[in-house]
Amino acid sequence: MRVGRALWRTLCRVCGIVGYVGEQPALDVVLEGLRRLEYRGYDSAGVALVADGALASAKAAGKLANLEKVLSGDPMPAATTGLGHTRWATHGPPTDRNAHPHLDRAGQVALIHNGIIENFAVLRRELEAAGVTLVSDTDTEVAAHLLAAEVAAGAELADALRRVCRRLDGAFTLVAVHAGSPDRVVAARRNSPLVVGLGDGENFVASDVAAFIAHTRDALEVGDGQVVEITPDSVTLTDFEGDPVEEKRYHVDWDISAAQKDGYDFFMLKEIAEQPKAVADTLLGRVDEAGNLTLDEMRLSDDELRDIDKIIIIAAGTSYYAGLVAKYAIEHWTRIPCEVELASEFRYRDPIVGRRTLVVVISQSGETMDTLMALRHAREQGARVLAICNTNGATIPRESDAVLYTRAGIEVAVASTKAFLTQIVACYLVALYLGQIRGTKWGDEIAAVLRDLSAMPPKIAEVLRAMDPVRELARSLASTTSVLFLGRHVGYPVALEGALKLKEIAYMHAEGFAAGELKHGPIALVEQDVPVFVVVPSPRGRSVLHDKIVSNIQEVRARGARTIVIAEEGDEAVVPYADHIVRVPQCPTLLQPLLAVVPLQVFACEMAAARGFDVDQPRNLAKSVTVE
Ligand code: AGP
Repeated sequence: MRVGRALWRTLCRVCGIVGYVGEQPALDVVLEGLRRLEYRGYDSAGVALVADGALASAKAAGKLANLEKVLSGDPMPAATTGLGHTRWATHGPPTDRNAHPHLDRAGQVALIHNGIIENFAVLRRELEAAGVTLVSDTDTEVAAHLLAAEVAAGAELADALRRVCRRLDGAFTLVAVHAGSPDRVVAARRNSPLVVGLGDGENFVASDVAAFIAHTRDALEVGDGQVVEITPDSVTLTDFEGDPVEEKRYHVDWDISAAQKDGYDFFMLKEIAEQPKAVADTLLGRVDEAGNLTLDEMRLSDDELRDIDKIIIIAAGTSYYAGLVAKYAIEHWTRIPCEVELASEFRYRDPIVGRRTLVVVISQSGETMDTLMALRHAREQGARVLAICNTNGATIPRESDAVLYTRAGIEVAVASTKAFLTQIVACYLVALYLGQIRGTKWGDEIAAVLRDLSAMPPKIAEVLRAMDPVRELARSLASTTSVLFLGRHVGYPVALEGALKLKEIAYMHAEGFAAGELKHGPIALVEQDVPVFVVVPSPRGRSVLHDKIVSNIQEVRARGARTIVIAEEGDEAVVPYADHIVRVPQCPTLLQPLLAVVPLQVFACEMAAARGFDVDQPRNLAKSVTVE
């Protein structure tokens, strides 16, 4: 079957990229780095080494094990300079031929790439007209030939790469080696991740620090539009024109064990279990000695924040749902109108954004291209942009006016869990801060919410301890074809998130609805025994909301649904209409998503495992989506 270009584009994700120069066997370092990046998802892999004035390369479709099989049958020469790549197909199917690295005709240059070179067709025609035969379907291969031509014309390798970059449209990370430069790796980036690892007598480039963290925790940012050249003892950073740029070094404060599963069957399970700590960490140190909320990383002055007359939250996927939850708290606490927008839609609808708009972009990875493009559009329109991000030094926080980091720690599973909880917490901190400086919240009210938030980690842990029946339920429903999720108020985005989790890892039809919308159409989906999760708000304080959702439970049950009700301790009104009850501790309604989503995460995880699917690396998905 031929897959159209549009589909390949949607399948494009961050490829794993590693480059090494030093004293260790480069092949070992590179393969180990690629293994550490496996969680990103990929469909082929390859390596290239510079040895004795020549290039050696190997590649294979499929997982790294396939490449290792190739290497064991045909060992590579010893070398201390090399690069490696795990590819998610964009142009051309995942075959040996299309796997990276790509070499030029003479086998002098090996090049790997993440992203999409948008003008590759023009460049390809130009190369073909000059007599070059391209052997793959990829956009990447053109860059390899162009680079080789620049070197052949006399340019030194880094300069050759700069010249090539200036000719490319689109987003890319490129890493290359040359047969004639045994101790040199060059790399470049535009709108695609790249970081340098600084060792002692060795240096690394990679798409993610996880690739080299076993060797060094000292890192250097590579900014957008920059080229870096590493040798064992030097790192040289310039822009695409060759002008030196200021270096920004930093220390990575998580260790390699954080990237392991710690005895859990899946990263997703480990990350679900880490949620109490992630929430607690995100709250740490946010109050000063006088009891005022302080957000050190905010970088926007109080005057600027007082001037704001509208908030637009922009994000994708789970981060978008965190934004939908946050809207309720932001408007309630600050009285500033708040819109929530899908990043992929934002800049295409001529949004009304101005100097007094605060745009809050939420992104776990900090590299999501839809969100990055929306951010840039918002800034061009004069808005101030605050990023809520889990990844230190990623592109999105770097390009924002201000940042509030969630402290969830590395999230490996493609299905986001702990990031969601910490994003909600971070948004709430921003809302409270705005309430504080604009005077829409009294100090004691803010202190009370912060106390409630601080009480959440043990409550999340309590929910986690009671998950056995949820796991059992998931196993018993493994052959179900469809699951529905209902919620109202902040429970509505929780329902959407529950459905997303089930779709992405259990490949099951799942839909989330605002419970009040049921009667306007979706109730037609309810048939005998269809499982329907209902997120029930507390009966305390918002009894109207509670009464309404109890009616919704009755409506679906009367039509044969199997109701799975998530309700707080002591809510007896739901008991007669629930086939299954999942209890969560009492808390204020606005904070309930931090508890109610946990059983939905666990349900999806267990369901995916029961159906025999890869929980951490679901098909067609990967952790960070770096194309629009
Ligand atoms: C969540 O489980 C997803 N894998 C996905 O929706 C994700 O939340 C989305 O792609 C946004 O990613 P980001 O937070 O890294 O920007």
